[in-house]
Amino acid sequence: MTPISRHIGVLGAGQLGRMLAISGYPLGQKFGFLGAGPGDPSALLGHMHGAVDDARSVEALLRFADVITYESENTDVELVRRLAREVPVYPGAASLYHAQHRGREKGLFDRLGIPCAPYRRVAERAALDGAVAELGLPAVLKTATEGYDGKGQYLVREPGELDAAWAAMAGREAVLEGFVAFRRELSIIAVRNAADEHVYYPLVENRHHDGILRTTIAPAPAVEPAVQQKAEGYMRALLDEMDHVGCLALELFETEDGLLANEMAPRVHNSGHWSIEGAQTSQFENHVRAITGLPLGETTPRQPWAAMVNIIGETGPVEEVLRMPGCHLHLYDKAERPGRKLGHVNVLADTREALDAALARLAPFLP
Ligand SMILES: Nc1ncnc2c1ncn2[C@@H]1O[C@H](COP(=O)(O)OP(=O)(O)O)[C@@H](O)[C@H]1O
Ligand SMILES: [Mg+2]
Repeated sequence: MTPISRHIGVLGAGQLGRMLAISGYPLGQKFGFLGAGPGDPSALLGHMHGAVDDARSVEALLRFADVITYESENTDVELVRRLAREVPVYPGAASLYHAQHRGREKGLFDRLGIPCAPYRRVAERAALDGAVAELGLPAVLKTATEGYDGKGQYLVREPGELDAAWAAMAGREAVLEGFVAFRRELSIIAVRNAADEHVYYPLVENRHHDGILRTTIAPAPAVEPAVQQKAEGYMRALLDEMDHVGCLALELFETEDGLLANEMAPRVHNSGHWSIEGAQTSQFENHVRAITGLPLGETTPRQPWAAMVNIIGETGPVEEVLRMPGCHLHLYDKAERPGRKLGHVNVLADTREALDAALARLAPFLP
């Protein structure tokens, strides 16, 4: 075994864990996964594989792993605390605790002086009227936990919709947020290792449809250096406050008055997939490096422009993508289902015009 190779346990076995393993194997790392079962996208890539709700699998992962990580902010924080008594878990429980609950997350933004949309925590239906009176409409009601890809959200336009909005929360605690008339959505990924090295990827621009990320442009066009610095400052504060080790992603709204934080994820992030071919070191490799105590890699782009386009719901005639110069196809080995992320295409180009032309050529081959 080489001196840097480690056994990495991953809670979750979806495409993020799969891409972590693919990026970690060149460094000699070994991976074990606890997912839902044999059909997981990571199943065939692991040196061990089990189910996260099976006590014997959890014991097996503890025996296997030198370090444990997770691929979702919906990971059970109690499980992470228990595992962390025996094997280091990165990012630590503090990162998970804050990122998995929108109320705690926004409380942290407030404490660190990171601007975000006005919000109120709403634990019961009766509290919703007061929150709406204070914030006004339109506003977005979101479940405090477990939301993703726009699920668990309700855009409230008028008071008559409040009962329907509350019903959509299905009895869960919620957060009401003022609606942000943003110019565009940006995100940033930072990485910190236990030796307190920090690196930051450039801000990227994200376009969503039906609450799901469709396209990322990297770097985001027309970002002033001061805006990048501002975003890095927010990340630095979050990393330090949570003693975060690994990747941390922050989604932001760009508004007339500057950046507002939307939400963070204590993990590799869909808006960082461009970095697989697009950056000197991908977010996945940097996450592996960070949690195994290795020096972090450069985050600079390899070409002036990159884009990432998600393949959602159905795969389509993607072999056409393989004929296109500058395009890289990634499939996650998942069954087709409406709204499901099945893969993505990364595009690299030397000019913005060439990038847009490649995106236009790609469009007919993606659902
Ligand atoms: N307060 C808001 N104002 C305007 N648009 C919003 C607001 N909150 C969310 N959105 C839109 O919905 C998308 C998904 O919301 P987000 O809070 O990021 O949840 P998810 O966990 O589903 O990604 C955002 O990327 C944005 O396009
Ligand atoms: Mg989001």
